[in-house]
Amino acid sequence: MWQSPVAITGAENMSHSTHGPLFSPSLISPDVTSALPEKYTMRPLQRSDYKAGVLDVLRVLTTVGEISEQAWIERYDWMARRGDEYYILVVCDGEEKVVGTGCVVVERKFIHNLGLVGHIEDIVVNKDQQGKKLGLRIIEALDYIAEKVGCYKTILDCSETNEGFYVKCGYKRVGLEMAQYY
Ligand code: ACO
Repeated sequence: MWQSPVAITGAENMSHSTHGPLFSPSLISPDVTSALPEKYTMRPLQRSDYKAGVLDVLRVLTTVGEISEQAWIERYDWMARRGDEYYILVVCDGEEKVVGTGCVVVERKFIHNLGLVGHIEDIVVNKDQQGKKLGLRIIEALDYIAEKVGCYKTILDCSETNEGFYVKCGYKRVGLEMAQYY
């Protein structure tokens, strides 16, 4: 069975222990990967994706800032140490360049019998790759992960302009979003 690289090597070696995938590749739906365009692949995020263009993909979504490789490694390792909370996946083209990404963060609750809720975050497909159903495949893959790890629901916030996309992915509007910025 897959174990987080951190769990295998122990906390004392953490800086050298998170080179593997962020989560078990067995959580990537085979049905979703087989529905990708030819030569495209989907896999868990890995530390080396800093060089594969994942931050540039995120820049299509919002401000990212200038993140040094060291800062990336520190944040990646922090997420990897959580073990079963951060599920970030990437879609790559035939040349191993990251062209899309998405995340589900699993929140553990007391309510609903210690229920687990998936929070879908940071869904983005490179501009020149949009319209190929990659966004849909990312959401399908994240839904698969959330269900497999035991979430009873998955929720997300989006702009009105993206509502149609999420409806196509099977989501429906429930409640409203509120925010306070610091
Ligand atoms: N409004 C309505 N329908 C849409 C939209 C939209 N904005 N975008 C796509 N669709 C439809 C497509 O036409 C398609 O419909 P079809 O099955 O009838 O052909 C279906 O949704 C699936 O579309 P995909 O090809 O999978 O969409 P794409 O790969 O282009 O990804 C995405 C969609 C992720 C929204 C992409 O346009 C993108 O990266 N946008 C910029 C970043 C962004 O806004 N991300 C969402 C932030 S919200 C969050 O992260 C929780």
